[in-house]
Amino acid sequence: MAQRGGFSNRLGFVLAAAGSAVGLGNIWKFPFEVGQGGGAAFVAMYLLFCFILAFPVMVTEIAIGRKTQLNPAGAYTALGYRKWRGLGVLGILCGTLILSYYNVVAGWAFGYFVEMILGNFDIGTRFGEFTRDITTVGGYAIVFMLFTIFIVSRGVSGGIEKAAKILMPTLIAMIIGLVIYAMTLPNAMKGIEFYLVPDFSEINLKTIRSALGQAFFSLSLGMGAIITYGSYVDKNENIVASAALITLADVGIAFLAGLMLFPFVFSQGLDTNGGAGLIFITLPGVFESLGGHLGVIIGGAFFLLLSFAALTSTVSLLEVPVSYAVDEHRVERKKAVLLVAVIVFIIGIPSLMANGYSKILTNFITYIGAESPTDFMTFVGHIANDTFLPVGGILITMFAAYVWKKENLNRELEAGYPNFKGSFAEKYVDLGIRIICPLVLSILVIMSVLETFFGVELF
Ligand code: PFF
Repeated sequence: MAQRGGFSNRLGFVLAAAGSAVGLGNIWKFPFEVGQGGGAAFVAMYLLFCFILAFPVMVTEIAIGRKTQLNPAGAYTALGYRKWRGLGVLGILCGTLILSYYNVVAGWAFGYFVEMILGNFDIGTRFGEFTRDITTVGGYAIVFMLFTIFIVSRGVSGGIEKAAKILMPTLIAMIIGLVIYAMTLPNAMKGIEFYLVPDFSEINLKTIRSALGQAFFSLSLGMGAIITYGSYVDKNENIVASAALITLADVGIAFLAGLMLFPFVFSQGLDTNGGAGLIFITLPGVFESLGGHLGVIIGGAFFLLLSFAALTSTVSLLEVPVSYAVDEHRVERKKAVLLVAVIVFIIGIPSLMANGYSKILTNFITYIGAESPTDFMTFVGHIANDTFLPVGGILITMFAAYVWKKENLNRELEAGYPNFKGSFAEKYVDLGIRIICPLVLSILVIMSVLETFFGVELF
């Protein structure tokens, strides 16, 4: 066990887990989902899902991890439920799949940082060319993977925690600075209005599904990343309070990302519906309009921020299969890191090619009733983030409520929170894992699978 290590204190854990949660999902994906999902109505649903559906899952995942001090697969076995091991393995595979494409987008972010520093603002108009150029984006993906390898191979406290302690405060300072700057732009208020004044007629099944997927993805739930980080937490930490802090940090930073982005977009009268390209296509032009040095500074800061956010998340994604190899197969950490990173990179090659380089992968699948085809990378995202993660959430909460049972979960939560029994938190978590999460998540997942993959129009 000597190899496992652990976080040195509560702050270390909360920062690392918040680092996992805060990522491309908050700064790249959240604003464009808001843009496509009709603005504030999407934001309202996302917040609701984070606190009502995702929070009990977060508490449960940390508890399972801390109780067993093991990776997701080993955890179920250690609790005495070998049959559930498959759920842990599935989570590990899902994390590996997510990292395979997440690293590609993280590479774009870092590539854009370099372009901004070089003053190449026209990169936005050449986004298609950029992602199609397999040598460039492949190179950036390798560089990004090397950063991740560097941190994870240094272990939990010396690598993951230390990186989070440096990167997270920097990230928060940068995002606040950029929000303040964005507020001074012309038409900033129009952006804020779009972002914060809801129009509930915009809500439909597709936006509900995206908001749900986004809540789970954004909080790194449903696949065992938080079980893994929980396994490095000390017995006298208050799990419920830590989960609340992590959730608030994640939601807070997603919120700030929107406050920064929409004024940028509206200041140029641009379309909020830019989808995945909202940041990569639209923003460089905005930075260019700031002129010379200011554009380089603000543009560089923005993409550096995005890269930092992505890095603390790729680190947590890599840590999941690495902890599995270390715990279950006694592989030495550094070796495990290299081995897993190479496998992840190879699995990610189709995603690298799915953005213009390969026609087949770019136009991979056309959903029934859809106007245009979906590329392989987005398709993997739909399966992994929007389907598997909520399914993971259903199974984890059902496991805790009906197999492991409330008494055992509560006992773990009481360690570090002696007054947990009888508290509001106890009732909230209990109701969440027994009824609300399994029920609501099941309904939403079934409806969304029917609609997305089988074209059944539900409403
Ligand atoms: N939460 C990260 C983000 O919002 O970008 C993505 C992520 C990281 C998902 C780790 C899942 C995970 F286990």
